Amino acid sequence: MSNERPIGFIDSGVGGLTVVKEAMRQLPNEEILYVGDTARCPYGPRPPKQVIEFTWQMTRFLLKKNIKMLVIACNTATAVALEEIKKSVDIPVIGVIQPGARAALKASKNSRVGVIGTLGTVKSDSYKNELQEKAPETYVSSLACPKFVPVVESNQFESSVAKKIVSETLKPLKLENLDTLILGCTHYPLLRPIIQNVMGQQITLIDSGAETVNDVSTLLDYFNLNNYEQTNQKARTFYTTGSPKMFKDIAHEWLQIENLDVSHINLGE
Ligand code: DGL
Repeated sequence: MSNERPIGFIDSGVGGLTVVKEAMRQLPNEEILYVGDTARCPYGPRPPKQVIEFTWQMTRFLLKKNIKMLVIACNTATAVALEEIKKSVDIPVIGVIQPGARAALKASKNSRVGVIGTLGTVKSDSYKNELQEKAPETYVSSLACPKFVPVVESNQFESSVAKKIVSETLKPLKLENLDTLILGCTHYPLLRPIIQNVMGQQITLIDSGAETVNDVSTLLDYFNLNNYEQTNQKARTFYTTGSPKMFKDIAHEWLQIENLDVSHINLGE
């Protein structure tokens, strides 16, 4: 039986589009509803209580639209709100941290793993805990990169400013003999070529968001929620609390789809 209800994705801004891109590739039949809370981005420096509240607002908005599954496509929100939301709603809810940690353990040969993320994600120690609970011998070096998200949100992720910021920020990690680095923020895959260049080709970069889509696919199978009807581009709807134009420019470039359906919404009023 086919289930045509949409899958909901939430993030503080455009970062979750890196997850959507992979979902569109692996699960092209699925209808997608996306909320980016651009007006209140970044979440990284905000207190956990506020991030939980904002995450609930996005979740409630999408629950009203009858989603069949929720993907918290934001590490900062996953770190503080996943467990609470998972317990409170009656659809499957997936975060990005466990899949990223799992993929890093699979990739690392020397058990020395780096994690880059927002202040909130790094402070929460979620990746470190996840990695070391599964594999206690793992050495984990975490670094907050608060300058990365504003570069992405302002559509400057290919600029020379981006190169300078990335290379200065990641300097301390280069001395750590890591063989695997988790991109622990869904905005960071947009900076991936620069990050790879700065860290060197020998390091394996883990895109947590993209890894998460494997879990989405597994859960769709497990709960018999797959959509077997072919969908079309119209079945992808994006909502932003910020400027639809800026969102559209980035989404268009990143997802390579024409005529994106982007609407402005207000949350928390
Ligand atoms: N994209 C988000 C993450 O994965 C959050 C970025 C932010 O709002 O600080 O953590």
